[in-house]
Amino acid sequence: MKIVSSVKLFAPPDFCCGGLSELKAIVVFDSRYGNTEKIASEIAKGLKESQIQEVVCSKTTEVDIEKFGDFDLIAVGGPTEMHHASPPMREFLSKLKHFDLKGKYGFAFDTKLNSWWAGDASNAIEHVLRDAGAKILMPPSSAFVTRPPSEELQPSAAPKTRETKKERHARKSEEKEIKHAAAVLEEGMEGKFELIGFELGHALVQAQTILQSS
Ligand SMILES: Cc1cc2nc3c(=O)[nH]c(=O)nc-3n(C[C@H](O)[C@H](O)[C@H](O)COP(=O)(O)O)c2cc1C
Repeated sequence: MKIVSSVKLFAPPDFCCGGLSELKAIVVFDSRYGNTEKIASEIAKGLKESQIQEVVCSKTTEVDIEKFGDFDLIAVGGPTEMHHASPPMREFLSKLKHFDLKGKYGFAFDTKLNSWWAGDASNAIEHVLRDAGAKILMPPSSAFVTRPPSEELQPSAAPKTRETKKERHARKSEEKEIKHAAAVLEEGMEGKFELIGFELGHALVQAQTILQSS
């Protein structure tokens, strides 16, 4: 993919100020069906294409929060569920909020439906990053997903005999699950977030350059 960045480009750090320390970034994500994982990978890809020397991409349940001290940028994202962050992301945030992120940079993202009622996970994520002391490098961003129309999905057929309340509840839950699992990223979202990763990388280099020259 050809990167066309809106961020003003500048000389690589080795040229402009005789060497910045190695910049490191971590992208932490939660994902139930894979959409947010894809977006996290694209951000990591964009960061690698910028001037970030080390980029790690890790799931909330697998990440070692104690190692966050090693990173300059911490990008965190997850799916929007029930208008909010998903339960695994909320659990991760409850640990992150007790962590000291002063001197670090942060970025929050999420995936969600492109709808007025969708809500979002990224605002809650950004809130925690900010409260923990991270400087927010770029505003939170959402990758939109779309679902095929209900008639294209094949939920379990409604029973011919009268079903119990419990059976009806189980059938409805299964239908909901099928609908959620069928959501895919809208066209262009992967490229958009690769570019966001690239811009984040440049913004990080720029912020560090300013810090070191002041
Ligand atoms: C239990 C559940 C609740 C959801 N609630 C919302 C919601 O409130 N707003 C929204 O925009 N999308 C909602 N979604 C859709 C997901 O945000 C969307 O499909 C997302 O891309 C899933 O990410 P993942 O593939 O990484 O798990 C919900 C999905 C699930 C499974």
